[in-house]
Order: sequence, then C-alpha cells, then structure tokens
Amino acid sequence: MEFSDVVHRRRMVRAFDPDRPVPVEVVDLLLEHAIRAPSAGFSQGWGFLVLEDAADRDRYWSVTADLSREPDSWLRGMMSAPLLVICLSDKNTYLDRYAEPDKGWSDRSESHWPIPYWDVDTGMAALLMLLTAVDQGLAACFFGVGQQTEIERFLKAFDVPADRRPVGVVAVGYAAPDRRSPSLRRGRRPVEEVAHRGRFGTPYRSASASAGAAPHKPAPHKR
Ligand SMILES: Cc1cc2nc3c(=O)[nH]c(=O)nc-3n(C[C@H](O)[C@H](O)[C@H](O)COP(=O)(O)O)c2cc1C
Repeated sequence: MEFSDVVHRRRMVRAFDPDRPVPVEVVDLLLEHAIRAPSAGFSQGWGFLVLEDAADRDRYWSVTADLSREPDSWLRGMMSAPLLVICLSDKNTYLDRYAEPDKGWSDRSESHWPIPYWDVDTGMAALLMLLTAVDQGLAACFFGVGQQTEIERFLKAFDVPADRRPVGVVAVGYAAPDRRSPSLRRGRRPVEEVAHRGRFGTPYRSASASAGAAPHKPAPHKR
C-alpha cells in the first residue's frame, strides 16, 4: 500500500472479528516495525507485552475493566480484539543512557528532562504499529490502560516491574463494523490553524494554497 494511503486510511477501529486471529507473521512485523521507532540517545527504553492467548487477554480486561457489570459497547468491541500489545515506557533506561560519557548527565536527574521522552518514544513505536496494521490489511486502536488503580493492578497481574509505565495499548485485529467515534464530530483542525510560519501566530499556508492552485490531494481513501 502507498504510504500516503496508509496514513489516510488509518483510524481507530474499536470492534474486531473475534474469530480471525492476527497472523503470526503480522504480530512479528508489528514488533519489528515498533523497534524502528526513533528514541532519544537511541535509548530504546520501551517494552511491549504481547497478549494473544484468550486467557491472557481475559486477564488484562479483568484487571482493567469492571466486568461485574454488562460491558458497554466500547468494551464489548475492544474485548473482541484478538491481539493486545501493551506499550511500556522505561524511564530508567533513559536516565542510565544519558549518564553515559557521551551524554554526561551522570547525576541521573530528571530535571534534565522537561519532556518525558521515554513516553514520547514509546508512543512513536505505538504509531508504527498502528500504521503497520493498516498496511497489512488489519485494523487497530490505541487506548489507555486506565487510572492509577487500574495501572497498578495491570502491572501486578502481568509481573511488570513497577518502574514501567503502560503508555497505552494497541489492540489489533480484522475490522468488524464499528460506531464512528463521536469525538470525530470535532472535525480535523486544518494545517493553517495548527501550523505557524516563522512566528507563533503567523499561520502556515501551504504552497499550493498561497499560489492559488488546488491543494495536493493524496490518493482517494475510505474512512
Ligand atoms: C494518547 C491517545 C489516547 C487515546 N485513548 C483512547 C481511549 O482510551 N479510547 C479510545 O477509544 N480511543 C482512544 N484514542 C483514540 C482517539 O480517540 C482517536 O485517535 C481520535 O478520536 C481520532 O480518531 P482517529 O484516530 O480514528 O483518526 C486515543 C488516542 C491517543 C493518541
């Protein structure tokens, strides 16, 4: 698939065919692409917990969702995903890496990090998995594990070291009909609104728009 098509086709899909597992070679590819993500200092402080077996996935939902009640449509849809990849960030790997001689922050102080790049980089890896799923003809959704209580229950249930942070989960499978997210009614903010040229507040106008030409349109795609 053309890269532009992959980007434009990607959307969060929240219901999957429960009877079609993700082919093993696709699971491998998701992970191989995830580790191609960039990372500060090439720290690669990420980890991926792969849950393919029904028992493991049930365990995930049992510690992060209230299954004593009838699941709502979101939970029903997400529980149909045959694959969950929990993306874990590892701050200490970054602190260690930047204490090395070529970086030199040997005090390992977090004050050097106004932005938590461990979470940023893990998020980039997650995006590569979302795009890979689309490229392979599957669908995916990124979602959060929950509040602190659910996060702690999750870490314990899967023997994850307490210093790892589950940045989010990538659910993958073959798409089933799902409901369009109400959030999408907000509309996509246009480039002119979010991009600035030269100074913040001066809108970026695409070259084709300022020349009066029709803006470049990527290949048609379905949403
Ligand atoms: C950091 C992050 C957290 C998200 N958390 C959730 C979530 O908990 N549940 C969910 O259904 N979607 C979640 N989403 C998906 C967004 O709702 C979705 O990306 C947005 O509505 C735009 O839709 P699209 O990705 O289909 O274009 C999350 C996305 C991101 C990037």
